[in-house]
Amino acid sequence: MRKFILLASAALLASCTGGGPADLHKEPNVELIQDMMESPAIKAQDFDTFNREQSASRLPPEGTVPVGFAKYPYHLQPDLGAKQKNPFDGKMTPEVLELGRTKYETYCAVCHGYEGKGDGPVSVKMSVKPPSLLTDKIAVTYTDGHIFHVITDGQGVMSSYAYQLVNPNDRWAIVNYVRSLQKLGRGASAKPEKK
Ligand code: HEC
Repeated sequence: MRKFILLASAALLASCTGGGPADLHKEPNVELIQDMMESPAIKAQDFDTFNREQSASRLPPEGTVPVGFAKYPYHLQPDLGAKQKNPFDGKMTPEVLELGRTKYETYCAVCHGYEGKGDGPVSVKMSVKPPSLLTDKIAVTYTDGHIFHVITDGQGVMSSYAYQLVNPNDRWAIVNYVRSLQKLGRGASAKPEKK
């Protein structure tokens, strides 16, 4: 009797694997627990099976914020944004400038040019040209906070870069790097004296 049970369970096991290793990928397994084979998962790009008008990928409930995310408080308020203090104010150290250069050359130079002249490779194709960052307007009138605001919130046809440059320090480092480009491109008078 015991022998029979052993044989029977061996046969059952063999049927589970579809006969032998060679057939493993040709035959579907015996579905012992069907729910696990046919899972109700739907692809994010699919439609909702309960409502074909709706996408399968649900929106988070209103007001949801990612952990660690601080909402930019000066959205569409450049005057207030301009008053923010640069944590790297006057810190033109190799570390800050190198961080700023890497980020600037990755995210800004395509439009504003490697030297900040507004002549990046993409600018040729744009109808609204990216402005030079070396003009009086930006070098003298714009505070560090104002440049930070434009990077964070966007301006006109330039979109926000806060999602690519998630860490605000990266954006402030870009501000310092832009100041260094202004010094190079305009001579020593680039940054207004501290009041
Ligand atoms: C896709 C091209 C593009 C990229 C990339 C881009 N910008 Fe701009 N930027 C523009 C355009 C176009 C404007 C003019 C927008 C307007 O006022 O309508 C602008 C405006 C600005 C201004 C304000 C100029 C003014 O006269 O008021 C600053 C400062 C600036 N950009 C800095 C940056 C920095 C720093 C980066 C990188 C984080 C960056 N931009 C990335 C296209 C770009």
